[in-house]
Amino acid sequence: MSQTATWGKSEAPNPSSGFFRDLIAGLQALPKTVSPKYFYDDAGSALFDEICNLPEYYPTRKESDLLARHGASIAAHIGPDVDIIEFGAGSVIKIRHLFETLDRPRRFTPIDISGAHLHASAAILRADYPGIEIRPIIADFTQPLALPIRDDARRVGFFPGSSIGNFTPAEALAFLTRLTGVLRGGGLLIAVDLIKDPAILHAAYNDSAGVTARFNLNLLARANRELGADFNLDGFAHYAFYHPVLNRIEMHLISRYAQKVHLGDVTIAFSEGESVHTECSYKYSVAGFQALAQAAGFTPAQVWHDGWMSVHWLELPG
Ligand code: AVI
Repeated sequence: MSQTATWGKSEAPNPSSGFFRDLIAGLQALPKTVSPKYFYDDAGSALFDEICNLPEYYPTRKESDLLARHGASIAAHIGPDVDIIEFGAGSVIKIRHLFETLDRPRRFTPIDISGAHLHASAAILRADYPGIEIRPIIADFTQPLALPIRDDARRVGFFPGSSIGNFTPAEALAFLTRLTGVLRGGGLLIAVDLIKDPAILHAAYNDSAGVTARFNLNLLARANRELGADFNLDGFAHYAFYHPVLNRIEMHLISRYAQKVHLGDVTIAFSEGESVHTECSYKYSVAGFQALAQAAGFTPAQVWHDGWMSVHWLELPG
């Protein structure tokens, strides 16, 4: 199906939008690249939720198993009366494990770039946990952000889903270092996907139902919807593979033939087989991630893992 878009005055691309600017800059670069943070409009967030339920996509299931199985031990490490800040919260499903096991959690601040998704999820959580103050913040947590300081409660960061893997190791180090300023005196509970059999990794990003492909292609569909671009989605193919030296999945969109795409008054040319690199998903060893966390200033205090996923408790002395 061709996704050729047209726009009237009110839908004209907004040159001051971050997506518009970043997309043009990324598609004019060589090799072409787009940040994975732009996957997550409402349609992309819904597709990601679908991915999390796929048989091949083990990270969500394995992480939930770890959080459930080790809930008491996790709660003992985190301690009572904490304020929890979740980064990239999305559908805020996993926080329920902490709400069920932690000792009197006080406040919950989920931060996510996708507003409608976040508010809907927060409303459901509020109804289920009336004793916990829930205040979502719509923001790009990859950028420096000022969090409302309410009192002297201990702050605990929660970063599930192995989303840290979508940063390069250098970006991950910078992000974790930045978190040390926000979480001083508390700590960070973070899930990290582990290096494993490349066949398992390959299947997780090349599911048989084609949901990951639709998730990847949604980036172009979103550009059509929001920016009036004229990407033909049939002209691009999802391509994902594991790089065993860099320990990362790479996702690309491959142009099936030579073509031109228009974004406002900018024309982008694609040659046959040319790639747009849309995502890296780094995998770590337990020791490798602990070394990274330590370099950022955290003290690795405990790790729970099953050989597939790992959940780390990283402390930050006050
Ligand atoms: C959000 N993030 C951790 C997912 C991952 O596995 O890197 C995004 C994803 N991309 C394709 N499938 C899932």
